[in-house]
Amino acid sequence: MKTYDFIVIGSGISGLSFALRAAKHGRVAIVTKKEAADTNTAWAQGGIACVQSETDTFDQHVADTLDAGAGLCPEPVVQKIIQHGPEAIQELVDWGVNFDTHETESGETEVALGREGGHTQRRVLHHKDTTGREIETKLLAEAIAEPNIELLEHHFVIDLITTAKLALASPPRCVGIYALDEESGEILTLRSDRVLLCTGGSGRVYLYTTNPGVATGDGVAMAWRAGCEIANMEFIQFHPTCLYHHSLKSFLITEAMRGEGAELIDKHGRKFMEEYDPRGSLAPRDIVARAIDREIKKTGGPCVFLDITHKPADFIRTRFPNIYETCLTVDIDITKQPIPVVPAAHYQCGGVKTSVKGSTSLPGLWAVGEVACTGLHGANRLASNSLLEGAVVSKLALNDCISSFPLSADQEVLEVPEWESSDVTDVDELVVIYHNWDEIRRLMWDYVSIVRTTKRLQRAATRLHNLQREVQEFYWNFRVTTELLELRNLVEVATLIVDSAARRKESRGLHYTLDHPDRDDDKWRHNTLLKK
Ligand code: SIN
Repeated sequence: MKTYDFIVIGSGISGLSFALRAAKHGRVAIVTKKEAADTNTAWAQGGIACVQSETDTFDQHVADTLDAGAGLCPEPVVQKIIQHGPEAIQELVDWGVNFDTHETESGETEVALGREGGHTQRRVLHHKDTTGREIETKLLAEAIAEPNIELLEHHFVIDLITTAKLALASPPRCVGIYALDEESGEILTLRSDRVLLCTGGSGRVYLYTTNPGVATGDGVAMAWRAGCEIANMEFIQFHPTCLYHHSLKSFLITEAMRGEGAELIDKHGRKFMEEYDPRGSLAPRDIVARAIDREIKKTGGPCVFLDITHKPADFIRTRFPNIYETCLTVDIDITKQPIPVVPAAHYQCGGVKTSVKGSTSLPGLWAVGEVACTGLHGANRLASNSLLEGAVVSKLALNDCISSFPLSADQEVLEVPEWESSDVTDVDELVVIYHNWDEIRRLMWDYVSIVRTTKRLQRAATRLHNLQREVQEFYWNFRVTTELLELRNLVEVATLIVDSAARRKESRGLHYTLDHPDRDDDKWRHNTLLKK
């Protein structure tokens, strides 16, 4: 058993920024299931929202966030995160992150701010169209150089270790993790009184997603199994513009492109968004995604199009170099042709219920970023607020960790048993795992995506129930592998999404059901909370 002052699960913006600060206080293990840079953060294109210009105010950013959040954002949480933004941005810059700048008319250099749906101001700091990659690269380089940080790549966290699991009489708390070392096949026991979950979201639960393969809802699933409270899982954000191409799936076309004037059109060139919302192509994402879904269903076409060809080609190539180059590889020249796009699962607004300091309902466990639900995103996240949340809440969480379990006190010596795997054999038929994985993703897409009905949710629940039994049987009888563990988490998270969606008998933000198409503030203006 290895012991650390802090265990951080996940290596995106939340995990890395927490670890860099925590390393000033003690030994940190960052445990990550693939290569450290393989994160949702690294795929973020648009940027990080923060009040920076003289014409913008905290109050305006707060108002935009509350408006997008459709009545479910706790205002004090929103205010706190937004007000801590500038200081978090400065920290990122100190770690080496470069944000784009431009020259003002008077010849001064200032940060270049982009605009995205639902923002009434330009306030999105970016690094061309690869902001996440820039943040990930710079923070990771700092973490690798930090002697107090041990980076455990290709280590899959199977479960949290809790006092309840150890059948200890002491009050419930998290005391460590079991992690599968993919290379050796060994299962490690890691002990700490301060465990931070930063595992990102669960986009892979859907057939079509903008998320990388790592987004299998691991953090929510393990927190749920450990008895944590889970909130608002019905609010899954579908990004309106994922590239529609058979050989290039999951490629995001950033909303920043609409912020620079790109328009959504149908195959005849008709700009349809004004028919749905006066803000047109820059309406909040829930509205745009639903409008596209409606257009696709109405016309029977496979996609709609995003057109930026009216902008100068040089501007497009400089501002969106990654999208330009990537689309060229599939013979789409975005300076000359509209881009075929479809909505795809993008962001989990709910998650492990936390305070604004990242504390969960299980002492010893904190959760930050997409895995968590501070309430900032309410029923619909405002674009580019998530990197901000990761950078800010990871800082508040560190202070909370240290005051809850002071580092001066000696860590209690606990007898944590080794992982027991003597009676299991290797998985005999991998086809079962792949089949179940595909079935979950397709049924979630068909029954639990942009437009829902009670009947579809019931169908999904019945199928998931059977799948859950099958996966559980596999888990007990066979040696664990990454594929099996991801499947186990995926089915758990899919069930939480369906259960949460079935409870909310109204339409609000990202949850839209044909059986209850209106918002009902009298009955439903509250979080959906699930607890085992
Ligand atoms: C985008 O670039 O459109 C995504 C930004 C976000 O999801 O916040």
